[in-house]
Amino acid sequence: MKLPIRHDYPLRPHNTFGIDAKAHAYLQVTSADMLPHVRNSEALAGLPRLVLGGGSNILLTKDFSGLVLHMCSQGIDVVGEDDDSTYVRAAAGENWHRFVQWTLERGLGGLENLSLIPGSVGAAPIQNIGAYGVEVRDCFFELTAFDFESGEIIRLDKAICAFGYRDSIFKHALRERAVILDVTFALPKRWKPNLRYADVEREIAARGIASPTPRDVSDAVIAIRTRKLPDPSVVGNAGSFFKNPVVSSRQCDALSERYPQLVSYPQPDGSFKLAAGWLIDQCGWKGKSLGAAGVYERQALVLVNRGGASGQEIAQLAARIQADVKERFGVVLEPEPVFI
Ligand code: EPU
Repeated sequence: MKLPIRHDYPLRPHNTFGIDAKAHAYLQVTSADMLPHVRNSEALAGLPRLVLGGGSNILLTKDFSGLVLHMCSQGIDVVGEDDDSTYVRAAAGENWHRFVQWTLERGLGGLENLSLIPGSVGAAPIQNIGAYGVEVRDCFFELTAFDFESGEIIRLDKAICAFGYRDSIFKHALRERAVILDVTFALPKRWKPNLRYADVEREIAARGIASPTPRDVSDAVIAIRTRKLPDPSVVGNAGSFFKNPVVSSRQCDALSERYPQLVSYPQPDGSFKLAAGWLIDQCGWKGKSLGAAGVYERQALVLVNRGGASGQEIAQLAARIQADVKERFGVVLEPEPVFI
């Protein structure tokens, strides 16, 4: 098989920050059959690899000197059902939001709270995307991946994926090793709306809906996200730029004493998650800019490209914010996107 490799390929259309950077080598992966050839190619051996989905969780700080594998495979199918669930499999290259809409059009609930999250199906399990009280792991069944180490296709169930908050095995043991090919979801037959998140409950109530359908919840989430978060096709961004930091109950108590407005959420293990957006907002960064890199006016957790920003500029702004939050609150903010 002759692989259609492109060289010095511009990545600007393929990252939602809209950063101008090039890839030394670039391949559109439309089928899993291509990957063994990539693995066995002498010309490609030894090149660092970057697996790209929707490009919504990366910050390109320079040109990439390796091979970009752009996952473009398509296809969504119902692959089975039992008393509890309908099983739906989607190819890695499918757009996440379009996939969620596909399930809703067929009356399948479960993923509606994750509407409008940018990115691809194949990227969703890597950081266990989440919003409004739901994470991908809640409806995840299994996935297949190409293992660059063994050259084989492996099947991974939920337990092996070791999902955590914006975390999974793909950020640890299988990092730079497994390329996700498709993901199967188990969508519940006895669906109940998840309105635990106050914003969603308020939006549904404001629409006068007493018993919401999955479609209603999706519409509410889309409305909330559109109000709060910038559209990457208009303003370059990668969603939340930092994870919400997790601190001990002792540290949380000490902080709440000094800052009674502190926004915190108790975790099952006794620790507390703090709202990073609140911490950044308190440091006065909301709406501010450093060159062409900025902090979004309506949500301080989102860094934006105000036009022509380099990845370095965004990284410098992020570092300044981290330093201020550390100095004021003694809390370390960890970036959510991967720095390239
Ligand atoms: N807040 C401020 N100022 C701000 C931003 C937020 O005071 O500028 C306060 C809010 O008032 C609220 C709290 O911080 O009390 C939390 O804000 P929000 O509800 O907007 O959610 P978040 O914690 O900032 C997380 C996810 C989002 C997800 C939302 C909704 C992370 C890192 N981010 O944001 O995910 O959409 O909850 O579930 O966990 C993403 O990961 O890219 C993302 C957008």
